[in-house]
Amino acid sequence: MHSTIVRATSRSATIVHAAFSGERGPRPAPGSTKSVATALADAAATPGFRGELGEVVSAGAGRLLLGLGKRDELHTADLRTAGAKLVRAAERMRIGSLRLDLAAALGDAGHDLRTAGRAIGEGIAIGDWRVDAFDGAATNRAPRSGRLAVDAAEDHLRAGLERGLALGASVNYARGLAATPPNICTPAWVAQEARKLARRTGMSCRVIGYADAKRLGMGGLVNVGRASANKPCLVILEHKPRSAKGRDRIALVGKTLTYDTGGYSLKVNNGMKGMKYDKCGGTAVLGAMHAIANAKLPVHVTAFLPAAENMVAGDAYRPDDIITMHNGVSVEVTNTDAEGRLVLADALSYAIRSLKPTAVVDLATLTGGVVVALGSFSAGYFCNDPALRGRVEGAAERSGERVWQLPLWREHREFMRSTHADIVNSNAKREAHPIQGAAFLSYFVDEGMPWAHIDIAGVSAVDSPGDIYVTGPTGYGVRLLFDLVAE
Ligand code: BES
Ligand code: MN
Ligand code: ZN
Repeated sequence: MHSTIVRATSRSATIVHAAFSGERGPRPAPGSTKSVATALADAAATPGFRGELGEVVSAGAGRLLLGLGKRDELHTADLRTAGAKLVRAAERMRIGSLRLDLAAALGDAGHDLRTAGRAIGEGIAIGDWRVDAFDGAATNRAPRSGRLAVDAAEDHLRAGLERGLALGASVNYARGLAATPPNICTPAWVAQEARKLARRTGMSCRVIGYADAKRLGMGGLVNVGRASANKPCLVILEHKPRSAKGRDRIALVGKTLTYDTGGYSLKVNNGMKGMKYDKCGGTAVLGAMHAIANAKLPVHVTAFLPAAENMVAGDAYRPDDIITMHNGVSVEVTNTDAEGRLVLADALSYAIRSLKPTAVVDLATLTGGVVVALGSFSAGYFCNDPALRGRVEGAAERSGERVWQLPLWREHREFMRSTHADIVNSNAKREAHPIQGAAFLSYFVDEGMPWAHIDIAGVSAVDSPGDIYVTGPTGYGVRLLFDLVAE
């Protein structure tokens, strides 16, 4: 991991050339010297080097070959992998500056250079990251290496690279928040971080505290958070640039459970470990606001983060409690572990009443069921509006952060009815959990309001290292939401 990565030109930069597998090596740029051509050909012939995606080999003084796999199988997503592997190789090889000479190869392979540059930049930034904030006196991990400067030889590739590095930095900002343990990251701490972000980027930040939440009738947020010494709050972060074009007012809502023990419906058999990631909806929304504000996107966007800690204590809420929510709907609590929908419900209702948004998107680590159904391959999602659906799916396609739609029918809404209150927070039948979550939330979204609910329980953190992500939080949603707003 580097101390920082910047897009900057350096005269001593190591030049990165592309190599496709099954081909004889890169064609050197027209006008390049014979010795360069020979060096590249020699490097491509290095025993063991096959030009596979992300393979890196030295090509003589000041040059590298970066494998991109088969020319006609190279997708934009692969360029993220290539970027991640390149940055790790650069660190191993102690290279402090890179200059990507990939435009000709990528152009030949049919890639839009801006898009390609952005993907490589994202891969470089995201692939470089790990958690080091808690490395202590006994750590056996290497300290950060110095600054890495990255540049591209071609303008479109360079512009894309710059955007990709910036987005990657926002993703890593979100991952740093997500990785912060619950003994440090409390609801008040999240509010503090949001205030810091607002100060640095010129956004405004407002926090509805515990007492105000009670006064506003936010029965979900208040009851879920009441048993913790770290009282709940609703964090509101607003990006409202003078440049805002059009009539769009977008509300982003993120489930921010700084810890989820399950409450009296306690999580058992190791189900609790990892629940510090139950705030990843909120941290992804903060990361997206980081990216949106830094890029100065000309759109009015407001983030709502219901932050709480679901604990056990004498004054905790319990199964059988009946509570009244911000919009007046009464809820019979059947399971205190279905707490995310309770805090989200109040945030959705409050967001819609206070902002009158043109679209609402919520991100939440809501159900174990979505992990069973889709694993870490895709988020599950629900959307009631064709235009918003197009925007979400377009953003998912561009960002590579996948969504897969599940149904939400009248029958699902009826399934949530309660005998003694309006609705239950979980049906006693263990059926269609992700849809139950969405059906519950739909009672807090006015009819006709374009709304998307994205269940990110399976994609917000990974438990083994992959090509791009190390074990831990992924920052899923930062780039998806950024793209959704930018488009
Ligand atoms: N935070 C959990 C969902 C979760 C599970 C996230 C696994 C990440 C990994 C959520 O609050 C929860 O406990 N959901 C319950 C709901 C059920 C009791 C209706 C679930 O899915 O089991
Ligand atoms: Mn829970
Ligand atoms: Zn939860």
